[in-house]
Amino acid sequence: MYCIRKITDDVTWIGVNDRRLAMFEGVYHVPRGVAYNSYLLSDEKTVLFDTVDKAVRQRFLENLAAALGGRNLDYLVIQHMEPDHSAQAVELLALHPGLKLVCNTKTLDFIKQFHEFDFDSRVVLVDEGDTLETGKHTLHFVMAPMVHWPEVMVTYDSADKILFSADAFGCFGALNGALYADEVDFDKDYMDEARRYYTNIVGKYGAQVVALLSKASALEIDYLCPLHGFVWRRNIGDFILKYSLWGTYTPEESGVMIAYASVYGNTENAAELLAHKLRARGVRSVMYDVSVSPASDIVSEAFRWSHLVFASTTYNAGIFVTMESVVNDLVSHNIQNRTVAVIENGSWAATSGGLIRKSLEECRNITFIDCGLSLKSSLKAGQLEQVDRLAAAIAASFPALEPSEAAVTGDIDANTMFKLSYGLFILTTKDGDKDNGCITNAAIQISENPRRISLAVNKANYSCGMLMKTGVFNISILATSAPFSIFERFGFHSGRDTDKFSGLESSFRTDNGVRYLPESVNGVISGKVVECSDNGSHMLFTADVTQAFVLSGEPSLTYQYYFDHIKPKPKPRAERKAGYACKICGYEYEGEHLPEDFICPLCKHGASDFEKITG
Ligand code: FEO
Repeated sequence: MYCIRKITDDVTWIGVNDRRLAMFEGVYHVPRGVAYNSYLLSDEKTVLFDTVDKAVRQRFLENLAAALGGRNLDYLVIQHMEPDHSAQAVELLALHPGLKLVCNTKTLDFIKQFHEFDFDSRVVLVDEGDTLETGKHTLHFVMAPMVHWPEVMVTYDSADKILFSADAFGCFGALNGALYADEVDFDKDYMDEARRYYTNIVGKYGAQVVALLSKASALEIDYLCPLHGFVWRRNIGDFILKYSLWGTYTPEESGVMIAYASVYGNTENAAELLAHKLRARGVRSVMYDVSVSPASDIVSEAFRWSHLVFASTTYNAGIFVTMESVVNDLVSHNIQNRTVAVIENGSWAATSGGLIRKSLEECRNITFIDCGLSLKSSLKAGQLEQVDRLAAAIAASFPALEPSEAAVTGDIDANTMFKLSYGLFILTTKDGDKDNGCITNAAIQISENPRRISLAVNKANYSCGMLMKTGVFNISILATSAPFSIFERFGFHSGRDTDKFSGLESSFRTDNGVRYLPESVNGVISGKVVECSDNGSHMLFTADVTQAFVLSGEPSLTYQYYFDHIKPKPKPRAERKAGYACKICGYEYEGEHLPEDFICPLCKHGASDFEKITG
């Protein structure tokens, strides 16, 4: 039975998962499977973007037939000729006599190498910037050579703002009922697999990835549709940011990856001691036994961490075999911009350290820490000082964290307030027929018996006056799926002159008659004010909880999550005018001096929440 899912009215995902494959491309373990994505555009013309691996052919053909709904296939765009994405090309050309293959000249060369077929009479050749009109949609072709193979191209559908991104933005792992990255906890459960996919598949080609990112930056993208892994429709910028780090070989994390090869446990022992001494100096480390951990995991971790330590025994007068393979893998994947230290071991002639260093010297911008360690069979008490010295040298190579000036001046650094952890909530109130709501971050439970919460509300907010008058309210606790539009609706306008609920289809109320939000909210608390006190800019309300219910198991939205994932990123510096930006909502004030009593017209925060826009 077919298994397909619509992405937009005209575009359908018709991909297939494979959980039986042990080694992707014969070399990368995929314990969580892999998804082969294919997409069908049904416009006046029907257009298929790539096919799938031969292992999942049958389900794919069922999916395609269901999505076509009896129509013929007009175009097959081959963005990437690698056989896991083009295995059904010949079969489809035979099945649909009118079908044209859309590809570039390189693709045509490669496909002829793999298959005996008269492609020339069935091909539409495209090049950089060419377009294909399919009815409502215009497809723009963008060449992306070496983002994995030389023939790779990506396609931008300007009608639905979809970037069909071929191997870029892919991920290992089958799609277990989820199609979109925002339907899973991607950072926690899939980012490691996305990094492992990137580094091992296209890690070598950072310059070409950066070139593609620069082309993509000119496009407005609502959906990223890669050939493996999840479709992206939210927080696309966060994932693109990861790609710009990986593509430029910039470490994601400060810390040390220690990879060791040890036959009798003595090299491992030295590596363990180093890790402990690093941790004692506040330096994070992760450790991998290269004889146990797959090389693709270690390559991926090497792209993640800023510092790399290789500890290896000597074997046949060279580097231990599994370590040699990892080091060669790193060199061939073009690892750059790292600080490296080496520990070697040898019972009669230790050579592994020098050889590892020699291999890594081929890579760009590798800084070696010179006080490496050489063991004769095992670490001796007399060498502990050397381990200490190595740990100290590694720790000293991290940039020192500068405390803010206020640490010594005794002043108040307002940025410190952002270090407090907060949630984000919609405070709703009702006065007669008037419903209103605003965003607040200051609501906490203050007692269990009686069950009470406190709530601080900016006096400039219309809700504050309403709450002082009526004394009843609801707190809708926002979940991580909350879109930015909720903040625009409830945070960037005043209830004095706007109906905050205008256009909202649902009208849910609690027993106190006050509205609450049923979507992107994981719980609702109703309160009745028992006390309020004036605290300058804000009123502090203490309230009895009169009703409370959970709406979903989704995680609560934190202030930090809002800043990291929901608030739009600032414009590129070149496009910004001199002035000040509100750290809360991003409003930009143009001018050299921000008045001290300035209140953000959007979110009502004061001048202390603005920062200077620096060019
Ligand atoms: Fe799954 Fe380069 O392809």
